[in-house]
Amino acid sequence: MFLSKLYSVFLPQIQAMEPIIIGIESSCDDTSASILQGRKILSNVIANQDVHTKYGGVVPELASRAHQQNIIPVIQAAITEAGISKNDISAIAFTRGPGLLGSLLVGTSFAKAFSLSLDIPMLEVDHLQAHILAHFIDMNGQDVPEFPFLCLTVSGGHSQIVKVNDYFDMEIIGKTIDDAAGEAFDKSAKIIGLTYPGGPHIDRLAKIGNAHAFDFPKPKIRGLDYSFSGIKTSFLYFIRDNLRKNPNFIEENQADLAASIQRVIIEILMGKLKRASRETGIRQIAVAGGVSANSGLRQAIMDGEKQYGWKAFIPPLQFTTDNAAMIAIAGYYKLLKKEFIGLDFAPYARALHKL
Ligand code: KG4
Ligand code: ZN
Repeated sequence: MFLSKLYSVFLPQIQAMEPIIIGIESSCDDTSASILQGRKILSNVIANQDVHTKYGGVVPELASRAHQQNIIPVIQAAITEAGISKNDISAIAFTRGPGLLGSLLVGTSFAKAFSLSLDIPMLEVDHLQAHILAHFIDMNGQDVPEFPFLCLTVSGGHSQIVKVNDYFDMEIIGKTIDDAAGEAFDKSAKIIGLTYPGGPHIDRLAKIGNAHAFDFPKPKIRGLDYSFSGIKTSFLYFIRDNLRKNPNFIEENQADLAASIQRVIIEILMGKLKRASRETGIRQIAVAGGVSANSGLRQAIMDGEKQYGWKAFIPPLQFTTDNAAMIAIAGYYKLLKKEFIGLDFAPYARALHKL
């Protein structure tokens, strides 16, 4: 204890006044820990779980077990990489929900124990708010969105257009009525023989395929809501019909199929986002969540700067898929408001109605 305190005196970042926060994320299949000092990132360690690949999706029981194995080494790595001692940490931010309950229990139980042993407060974070707040992590003094802004939040579990009025004042103005955009990517990928999670594989293949080789009907849903279950079904039937005529249809057309389905998913996402911008008059446009790693979607949103006069905010790749730096930054803003949570809480599995 004494030694680590002495050690910390020599670290320049410790001398600054900003609080040091550890973020812990364990809502799905990534175990992650991150250290932030104020808004500045000191470390962001993520352990992915390969165990799910052969099942074609996340197996909740296996996910909780892997979190249990990974959490201590991941926390330790985040602290070491940040060049701090655990005694320098001012508060613990953790994901309370939504997510898989067994996975969330690992992170929340660890947070409680850590808080008791270090005698420091805890900050609860909503995973979806955190994806959006990732834009405020200071990487190199980059511009951050101004309130109000719109954020297209697209992941494996959610697809939403969120009007962000303030750090913790967010309105969901559009959402999917069935599958999420990430599921549309993953299910389409599975149909053409790609492993889970298929989104990144589609992205990679799309770069060498013809995006206009095939077309698929877009859903007609009212307002700002999305639907992705129909596109998956029409993709499945299209492939099935073509396989009857040519058993090698998938192998011969895999890149074109990937590029075409990616184009259509992006067109669906962009259609409602453009409409949301028009209807609200908001031109500060951000994107967040795992699908915001998609190179086609990133380009389409950047193109909005020239086409529609948007100011676009695209997160660095490491903050698109699940990570604990986004949990720590959300915790930082809660800390500024002194919104701490006691030990007598349980995680929640389902998304909040209002963010
Ligand atoms: O945010 P995230 O890591 O986890 C959830 O909270 O769901 O998102 C995971 C989703 C998966 O569906 C994955 O296929 C998708 O994000 N994804 C991508 C890309 N990278 C990840 N989808 C399309 N293109 C990508 N490059
Ligand atoms: Zn996520």
